[in-house]
Amino acid sequence: MTPAAVAPLIGRSSPPFDLDRIRADFPILGRRIRGKPLVYLDNAATSQKPQSVIDAVTRFYTAENANIHRGVHYLSERATAAYDLVREEVARFINAPSSRQVIFTKGATEGINLVAQSYGRPQLKPGDDIVITAMEHHSNIVPWQLLCEQTGAALQAAPFNDHGELDVAALERLLTPRTKLVALVHLSNALGTINPVKTIVALAHERGIPVLVDGAQAAPHLPVDVQDLDCDFYVFSGHKLFGPTGVGVLYGREALLEQMPPYQGGGDMIATVSLQRSTYAPLPAKFEAGTPMIAQVAGLGAALKYVESVGLGNIGAWERELLAYATDCILDMKGVRIIGTAEHKASVLGFVMNEVHPHDIGTILDNEGIAIRAGHHCAQPVMERFGVPATARASFAFYNTLDEVDALIAGLATVKKMFG
Ligand SMILES: Cc1ncc(COP(=O)(O)O)c(C=O)c1O
Repeated sequence: MTPAAVAPLIGRSSPPFDLDRIRADFPILGRRIRGKPLVYLDNAATSQKPQSVIDAVTRFYTAENANIHRGVHYLSERATAAYDLVREEVARFINAPSSRQVIFTKGATEGINLVAQSYGRPQLKPGDDIVITAMEHHSNIVPWQLLCEQTGAALQAAPFNDHGELDVAALERLLTPRTKLVALVHLSNALGTINPVKTIVALAHERGIPVLVDGAQAAPHLPVDVQDLDCDFYVFSGHKLFGPTGVGVLYGREALLEQMPPYQGGGDMIATVSLQRSTYAPLPAKFEAGTPMIAQVAGLGAALKYVESVGLGNIGAWERELLAYATDCILDMKGVRIIGTAEHKASVLGFVMNEVHPHDIGTILDNEGIAIRAGHHCAQPVMERFGVPATARASFAFYNTLDEVDALIAGLATVKKMFG
């Protein structure tokens, strides 16, 4: 090693786990892209999967495949037990009081749509409000807009400041006797802001208003305790949590889930069916019509085990290092502006560069094997608020390294040179 190669390593912090071993658990991280080692910094879009998750899905199809809740044979009983066990594990992961309050969905988006249609649609009427924030992902905007079109209710959005921090006082002013639900993001995918969810839940509950929390980005990075947050609904997606695509979770307060009608009809969600009428299964089956995502749930179970073995405390600590280091490096670059500078933020670094479209940044970095996201990140109102059409976004996971941040910064220097 030359002194130059050694120098940057001096004083660099290291994670509270064996990063080389962790990286070896994720086969894709060993890939080369366009002849360069893959630097995967698009974790907010979807995260990579450890071998144990891949093995759990493969094992299911190789040795355990059967439909659940409807067979008396060995494989079906085994598959049913395994599926139900993951529900218990999810309940533990988010500290839900009971696994009856854990509904498997196909992702965060479906969880929000389920609440909009099953909780909101039967009771909202003209004159009612739903309060969201201006930093929501489209999946926590559009389902409420559809609901407003269906019921005549109105959507109100609380603003955020130039750092991307929610204006809690403005949100509080939006809470009126007309407000029937608050829905807000826990960790913004476009800004990285961590919202003061517990405070907002308390403000809403003082007025008897239930709160849905979109935890799609939070669940992979922060410990989530739904009882401590005291939220009424919490949604997240498996694929951002190192699990498979096509599976997610809706947690709900039991009294609310009990009063809500089914979201979809079909097999498995019924108690009895006649040609005149049907009665519905108890929770959670009432909300899981049809054959569910059995293999994906097996993968999600393995993902939770993996995350717990590393520890969300350790994950958060290392991701804070990565974010702080990347932020410092970017602040040192002339002509680069960070979008999202909240005091409390995690894992997401959005930025724009003078005179360079984010798509060009993304394409040039891709040539170096570096995967970032460029675009509006399904958060167009955030782009509008900052007066930009798009941003470039690097988003970190615990398997990322400081060397990968250096590769990103070197790639950005190349971008600057090309557009210089
Ligand atoms: C904050 C946030 N909410 C919701 C979603 C939607 O998640 P999914 O597409 O997995 O349903 C995303 C996805 O990027 C997100 O970042």
